[in-house]
Amino acid sequence: MPVQEVAPIKDGFQWKIDEILDRVQWAKDLDAYYYQQAVSETDGAWVVVGGQRKLMFATYSYLGLLGHPYIEQASKAAIDRYGTGTHGVRLLGGTLDIHIELEQKIAQFFHRDDAITYSSGYVTNLATISTLIGKGDWIISDKWNHASIVDGCALARGKFVRFRHNDMADLERRLQQAPANAGKLVIADAVFSMDGDIFPLPEAVELCRKYNARLMIDEAHSLGVLGATGRGIEEHFGMIGAIDIKMGTLSKTIPGVGGYITADQEFITFLKHASRAFIFSAALPPAVTAACLASFEVIEREGVERNRILTRNVNQFLGGLQDAGFDTGFSVTPIVPIMTGDDDRAMLMTKYCQENGVFVLPVIPPAVPAGSSRLRSNVTATHTTEDIDFALDVFIKAGKVAGVI
Ligand SMILES: Cc1ncc(COP(=O)(O)O)c(C=O)c1O
Repeated sequence: MPVQEVAPIKDGFQWKIDEILDRVQWAKDLDAYYYQQAVSETDGAWVVVGGQRKLMFATYSYLGLLGHPYIEQASKAAIDRYGTGTHGVRLLGGTLDIHIELEQKIAQFFHRDDAITYSSGYVTNLATISTLIGKGDWIISDKWNHASIVDGCALARGKFVRFRHNDMADLERRLQQAPANAGKLVIADAVFSMDGDIFPLPEAVELCRKYNARLMIDEAHSLGVLGATGRGIEEHFGMIGAIDIKMGTLSKTIPGVGGYITADQEFITFLKHASRAFIFSAALPPAVTAACLASFEVIEREGVERNRILTRNVNQFLGGLQDAGFDTGFSVTPIVPIMTGDDDRAMLMTKYCQENGVFVLPVIPPAVPAGSSRLRSNVTATHTTEDIDFALDVFIKAGKVAGVI
């Protein structure tokens, strides 16, 4: 079929497109564009990219469940039994028995009444925040919260205010500004996704009770990571049951895709009948649902041991970087920022690491504030002590080449 010749578009949108294209070209000119590399094989902590074996330091598979045989078997069996898709949206024909089993498993794992699943963690935040918050309600959000929370707030029709990162005095000031009878939602990441520090849950719970606010916590990076059995921030602080709305993803420690909210029965019933992303978007596919369900079972059986190894690895990696003189920000978890400040240094360090067998990526503005560029590295339970020694050696050499240390 002949394709029509069309003149290049030059309209009022073009500047936005050019801005991004210029940024991409800048990275390519430095010969340091490593985004969207295609992984062709995964073998434990190692991956193959463009025919080269690299040690993975940009993964969210914190407990190393990606590739777990029990999970893979459950996923394959689900395709044999149900096929590759569902009959549509959950409210109508799309619900399978394993969706219900997964939601019950999530609720039981976190000691809650019930749970709801969505097609991604991003969508879960968008859906929950925009369904709950209406005109006259207030949403009070930590300044370092994940983009999906920020976007959920932008979509909601209420008043959106932010408090200084992890600053409970500022949170209290914000709570005092809200009308006493307004619906108030306080929201934060449990482990902050770019910095690896932890939200001060005990103080926040106290303030929420004092000011009659609901507390929603995003456990994307704390499930499997915080608490001896991997049950997240409540277990870490010995406060099981303290959070009103517990959100998490099925794409990080859980090697699938999707997101969930677990809470009391009334709230979950409300979301299942009011949130548009549940009502108007298709159900999780069977292979993913079964993999997620099997993953929670594996954490129940193996979580304590995997979490012990993860903690050991975090200590070895963070300690090694700090001894070498790197600034690792506030991290106390497997998310370890290696601060470079400058964008060019972040690119140079990345290039050295990628060329010397370590898969790591830079995070630069606008994903982080100007002047706080970094390599965002992730340590997992799959790394061996020797792997971490190898990576430390490469990071230290890269830091010297780029002038970071
Ligand atoms: C804190 C946080 N919340 C939500 C999400 C979105 O989750 P998903 O990737 O499963 O959509 C992410 C993703 O990185 C995240 O870091």
